[in-house]
Amino acid sequence: MTTRIIGTGSCPGDHVVSNGDLAKIVETSHEWIYTRTGIQTRHLSTGLGTSGMAAEAAKLACDNANINPEDLDLILLATSTPEYCFPNGACQVQEKLGAVNAAAFDISAACSGFIFALQTAGSFLASGTFRNILVIGADDLSKITDWGDRGTCVLFGDGAGAVVVRAEETGCFHGIMKADGKKGKVLSCPARSEGNFLTGKTPEMGYISMDGQEVFKFAVKKVPECISQLLSEQKISKEEIRYYILHQANKRILEAVAKRLDEPVEKFPMNIGEYGNTSAASIPILLDEMNREGKLDRGDKLVLAGFGGGLTWGSVLLEW
Ligand code: COA
Repeated sequence: MTTRIIGTGSCPGDHVVSNGDLAKIVETSHEWIYTRTGIQTRHLSTGLGTSGMAAEAAKLACDNANINPEDLDLILLATSTPEYCFPNGACQVQEKLGAVNAAAFDISAACSGFIFALQTAGSFLASGTFRNILVIGADDLSKITDWGDRGTCVLFGDGAGAVVVRAEETGCFHGIMKADGKKGKVLSCPARSEGNFLTGKTPEMGYISMDGQEVFKFAVKKVPECISQLLSEQKISKEEIRYYILHQANKRILEAVAKRLDEPVEKFPMNIGEYGNTSAASIPILLDEMNREGKLDRGDKLVLAGFGGGLTWGSVLLEW
């Protein structure tokens, strides 16, 4: 059994914030942000939050797949911004969808989360454990962003993207997942500060911190390596790949990956300009846009790749 995506959906944050808007709250400019990242706007969520955006994207994906939520066997939600420690966000989505027959749990792998969740789903489908799985990437990063830190606050946005995957006899689906915990501090966000009745401190939420140049170097080295390994293991030539759908972190990272793979940048679709970096949501949002714009044909071979905090990275080769 292999894995095929049979439906997609997405729900970006509802409020558009331009680079000019951010220049009013921190010392920055449209010129600085755009030339270094390709970002022009980002969408922030003012109401729905992680589970609300995830559920909206999921409903659209189920409609697109022509599947009843009751037929879902499992919901996987990749997120770094759950609203609760428990119940997990996937259970909140299950409730909102009425997917009463689905098990549900979250996956935490930062911006690689969707790639890790998709591969987890693929393993369940390959083993025959489940038949229909909803895989969501959703993040409400604006809630863990330090809006006084110009080094990070200009980069991120909120949103959710979802796919329904089904076990099928034909097609292809292979993946690689990697992690390097030694580099965890390069891109991190503490869950809660230490505090209890013994210390006398009240726990506080933490915010994203990042060594931008280290992350940049990591991404442009590891992502092409990982994709090359995947293609070579599966004996697939670059010419057979229609699109590389990568985590939308930075236009310059995507261009550098294209260059290192010696592939035309036109094979790397981008929507970073509109949404900024939406972490686990960026790949399924882009997939959904391409699907709805009719840019994907059955049989197309696609490479998906994500990278981010952990550090984590990974790629998936699949047939549309
Ligand atoms: N506006 C204006 N100036 C800014 C700024 C902003 N938003 N953010 C930082 N700067 C300043 C810095 O303070 C620094 O000033 P200094 O030279 O006076 O100290 C200068 O710009 C250069 O900073 P630097 O960090 O070296 O810039 P950079 O060229 O590396 O670009 C990033 C910064 C974040 C755009 C870049 O490193 C990057 O994209 N890294 C990858 C980040 C990423 O994708 N993370 C998520 C991965 S999932």
